[in-house]
Amino acid sequence: MLKRKVTVIGAGNVGATTAQRLAEKEMCDVVLVDIVEDMPQGKCLDLVEAGPVYGYDSIITGTNGYEETANSDVVVITSGIPRKPGMSRDDLLKTNAGIVKSVTENVVAKSPEAIIVIVSNPLDAMTYISYKVSKFPKQRVVGMAGTLDAARLAAFISMELNVSVENVHAFVLGGHGDSMVPSRRYTTVAGIPVKDLIKKERLDEIIQRTRDGGAEIVKLLKTGSAFYAPSASVVDMVESMIKDKKKILPCAALCQGEYGVDGLFVGVPVKLGLGGVEEIIEIKLDDEEADALKSSAAAVKELCDKIDNEFF
Ligand code: LAC
Repeated sequence: MLKRKVTVIGAGNVGATTAQRLAEKEMCDVVLVDIVEDMPQGKCLDLVEAGPVYGYDSIITGTNGYEETANSDVVVITSGIPRKPGMSRDDLLKTNAGIVKSVTENVVAKSPEAIIVIVSNPLDAMTYISYKVSKFPKQRVVGMAGTLDAARLAAFISMELNVSVENVHAFVLGGHGDSMVPSRRYTTVAGIPVKDLIKKERLDEIIQRTRDGGAEIVKLLKTGSAFYAPSASVVDMVESMIKDKKKILPCAALCQGEYGVDGLFVGVPVKLGLGGVEEIIEIKLDDEEADALKSSAAAVKELCDKIDNEFF
């Protein structure tokens, strides 16, 4: 198989850990870009020097420009400022929208056929701006969030029941914000609906902890946000695309009528393959889930309207 190339923009904790995970899986060559002089070069040299220990031969390049990113198959955008304790993801809107816009322009100029994966927050709105700026088909712009939120929910359920994380299949819809919609009906443990195993009140608490999962880490770290679980989630998505695995993962995808949402990126189950978002899987929601998804989409729309006013 032709060697694939994945660019990661932003060499902070999420970006650098994503580059590390991609290299360790020997999935592709990796280019890591950051505006801070010498920093991505330093991190990549360090990763290259870890290669002999891990046994990976991926070519890993750190750079401050976009030349080296040319013809990437996938570009992961992590650029932007992270939250400080007490901030919501939405507080980052203005600053990060400007950053994601200019990064997307540079990416598109060098890799017109790439699939863009957005990680910057507020996630759904940043995916929207990248889609609009890139003018890429909707299949080739996708946001990473549901995979992370589902991973958090799965971790909490596995701790609660003292079962393997491999048994837990968590299902989360909606925006990557306070209004995200973890589903009780479709979250299962070894195929058993979780609501049959955990009492409603306790499950409510676990779901709330999932909604607050990013903030819980921000509060503990004090100077930045989560990166191990976010980078693991990005790599799961990238792997499904470049290996054409066609995994179904919850991701922010452009809905055009699906789930009653039109013209917005919100978290829905999608099939990820070489073509990017190859399909949005639509399932029937009960009234509570449908209402929750509607409010979540409304929260995303508010941010996208602000972006439209400011940038388009
Ligand atoms: C989080 C940030 C990355 O949820 O949105 O940790």
